[in-house]
Amino acid sequence: MDDSNFHLTTMVTIHLRSETKPMEHRSALTPTTARKLKDAGYEVLIERSPTRIFDDKEFEDQGLELVPEHSWKTAPKDRIILGLKELEEEDFPLIHKHVSFAHCYKDQAGWEKVLARYPAGKGTLYDLEFLQDESGRRVAAFGFYAGFAGAALGVQDWIARVTEDKPLVPVEHYPNEGVLVDELKAALAKVGKTPKVLVIGALGRCGKGAVDLCQKIGIPDSKIVKWDMAETAKGGPFHEIVDADIFVNCIYLSQPIPKFVTMKELNDPKRNLRVIVDVSADTTNPHNPIPVYTVATTFDKPTVPVDVTEGPSLDVISIDHLPSLLPREASEFFSADLLPSLLQLKEIDSARVWTDAKKLFDHHVARLPAGSY
Ligand SMILES: NC(=O)c1ccc[n+]([C@@H]2O[C@H](COP(=O)([O-])OP(=O)(O)OC[C@H]3O[C@@H](n4cnc5c(N)ncnc54)[C@H](O)[C@@H]3O)[C@@H](O)[C@H]2O)c1
Repeated sequence: MDDSNFHLTTMVTIHLRSETKPMEHRSALTPTTARKLKDAGYEVLIERSPTRIFDDKEFEDQGLELVPEHSWKTAPKDRIILGLKELEEEDFPLIHKHVSFAHCYKDQAGWEKVLARYPAGKGTLYDLEFLQDESGRRVAAFGFYAGFAGAALGVQDWIARVTEDKPLVPVEHYPNEGVLVDELKAALAKVGKTPKVLVIGALGRCGKGAVDLCQKIGIPDSKIVKWDMAETAKGGPFHEIVDADIFVNCIYLSQPIPKFVTMKELNDPKRNLRVIVDVSADTTNPHNPIPVYTVATTFDKPTVPVDVTEGPSLDVISIDHLPSLLPREASEFFSADLLPSLLQLKEIDSARVWTDAKKLFDHHVARLPAGSY
């Protein structure tokens, strides 16, 4: 076999799906990361998309090939189909290797139907949520921009409350981080003061994002209180929460812990706190350390009031898809973290990150009830 033939038979094709979930503007590949894959010898095909935050032209400008929207469905079997959010609910068997979030490994409602489509077509799911490095840490996650966006909305709501005592109006995604930061800086300048922000879980991905937003919009370090395990070790409830103007909860709740705050602290007439941003959003978890609200909020209606009887009004923001506020940066961040693993797709049957994901897939397929596919 001569070299060119060898090249042809080993070329791996990555096919980026157009996302179909409503309001999803994020992307698993950006023009930059797609180009890096191409430079590394992959064939990279990008589905045209009317909703992706990156225009089709941005990919074309990087010399990448655009293909029609949804063309993955009829694409040759050996393509690796890359996407972010779960596939649309359809019935046809899946014949490809799919890299995406699928939300079907934790017994979520309907998980059997979602998962059964893969073995039914002899396809494979490599779930992005479970791609891990050697130390068991996720290779790519959206946490940083969840915290960043959550803190931004918290500051916006605080401004709405201290100026007009109205809750935050519906919000739309921003074209980029700079626009959001400039808008917040200008709004704070008008108010003439900055809030004191308490971030719990400050050493984690979401927490670091929340702190970064606060610093970028000019809140002095003395007013950004960063707590993690050491500070909460004494056990809640914590009066420090009501002394802050904004509380951003960014912890990863892995076990029952004492409550961070209860209605008793919130009904302190001297409370400064006006906004709780629950980035962790363990809203319906029986161990939620902030058991003062019960609903997940949305970009359309970002806040829910807490039923306080003393002190000023108090809002909770509990949106569970916060990174969508900044789809461009959130995608860049996620895709850059994912890239080292994507660069190993040529060795999908031997590279540890991918073989571990395949083992996990096989494990869950084996759990499917008999007759699922
Ligand atoms: N709302 C959203 O849109 C959104 C998006 C992404 C992630 N999340 C959620 O945010 C949470 C955090 O995710 P992450 O990626 O930042 O996790 P992470 O593991 O990177 O960070 C969690 C941090 O919380 C700290 N922590 C855990 N328990 C604590 C406690 N009792 N007291 C103080 N600190 C504590 C840890 O030490 C760590 O620093 C997760 O529940 C995740 O599902 C929400």
